[in-house]
Amino acid sequence: MLKHLASLATVLVLLPAAMAQSSVWGQCGGLGIGADTTCTPDSVCVVQNPYYSQCLPNGSATTTAVTTTTGTVALPTGTSTAKSNTVAKTLGGKKYFGSATDNPELNDTAYVATLSDNTLFGQITPGNSMKWDATEPSRGVFTFAAGDAVAALAKKNGQLLRGHNCVWYNQLASWVTAGNFNASTLTSILQTHCGTVVSHYAGQMKDSWDVVNEPFNDDGTVRSFVFSDALGLTSYVTTALVAARAADPAAKLYINDYNIDSAGAKATAMINLVTSLKAAGTPIDGVGIQGHLIVGEVPSKAALIANYEAFTALGIEIAITELDIRMTLPETPALLAQQQTDYNTVISACKAVAGCVGVTIWDYTDKYSWIPGVFTGQGAALPWDDNLIRKPAYDGIIAGFTN
Ligand code: G3I
Repeated sequence: MLKHLASLATVLVLLPAAMAQSSVWGQCGGLGIGADTTCTPDSVCVVQNPYYSQCLPNGSATTTAVTTTTGTVALPTGTSTAKSNTVAKTLGGKKYFGSATDNPELNDTAYVATLSDNTLFGQITPGNSMKWDATEPSRGVFTFAAGDAVAALAKKNGQLLRGHNCVWYNQLASWVTAGNFNASTLTSILQTHCGTVVSHYAGQMKDSWDVVNEPFNDDGTVRSFVFSDALGLTSYVTTALVAARAADPAAKLYINDYNIDSAGAKATAMINLVTSLKAAGTPIDGVGIQGHLIVGEVPSKAALIANYEAFTALGIEIAITELDIRMTLPETPALLAQQQTDYNTVISACKAVAGCVGVTIWDYTDKYSWIPGVFTGQGAALPWDDNLIRKPAYDGIIAGFTN
């Protein structure tokens, strides 16, 4: 008995030291007191059997250990060694494969290291820091520090930058909504905002601007908010686009929305809007198809291509601007395989349409995805997992650009 107590004491004394990360080939899980479930960044924890998990060098593993509510399970990883941006450009014929990012994540060194690899990502979109509430929180007071940090990172890495966004019903500064302004003041406020923000990044913005974000409801009707209510759709969209063009004549100007991946009322509304803008001579260069999709519910490749071509037939380009494909958790090998197929479908549809210029995922890792915070019980939507390990979805992306 005394002997057992002594062993227990030894274990307890050793515990703090054992919480350190295991290095390559070390034990990282399973039976055996003292093993940690994390590995040093050069390796990944792989379940060998129910009793033993081991840190294998990055790139050598085909499964990764994921802890769920029912215990630790082994899930397949991506195995492709090809680089997503390189493949998008060379075999896919696209301008870039990119990722959104957000400022809080820029303190995560391992995260930034992968984001900064321009063979993986040739383009960056700031997820929040160029939106209205971030850039003009009070009337006439512009704050660019957070947006500038993302722009500087892209520049340092030789990556294209996408502006996101000038005018949106969401994350709009409350002084605009609550100000009870009349129509002509609102027009002036919009001109000043888009003009100032786009002008600030002029020259740095080597890619495009999502000038107008999400102007429609899912049934194709105009989304109600302060600008559409006071000015009407055509007027506020035109004001924003004209101001953006004047502020940076070199930037491609986009209207960006979700649930316009395949034909339907919302895609038709977007087509009608672009048609009327073109007829009026309003500057419009592209439509951003956000692509917030669901595993197993992605439209067929043929349906995607037909819709993409309906947009490019208007004389504009398109881009997939916010791709993620979510699932109901927990992740399973079957769901990850379907997700791989679904990423392949979207990417290969973009590849098939010359006017689809690039694909951006809405961040690259599940660690920083917006999905779990908004859709309870859903997530795992991105091609890198919480531990920055590539998932089978990554192989789907490579296959989509390749085949
Ligand atoms: O800035 C506040 C912070 O002060 C506060 O402590 C914290 C507490 O929750 O919230 C912070 O604001 C959050 C903001 O992101 C910045 O992190 C908001 O709560 C949160 O709702 C907001 O979510 C963003 C969302 O847009 C808002 O609708 C997501 O990060 C962003 O990825 C997401 O991006 C949108 C695109 O712009 C347009 N298309 C859809 C896409 C996904 O919703």
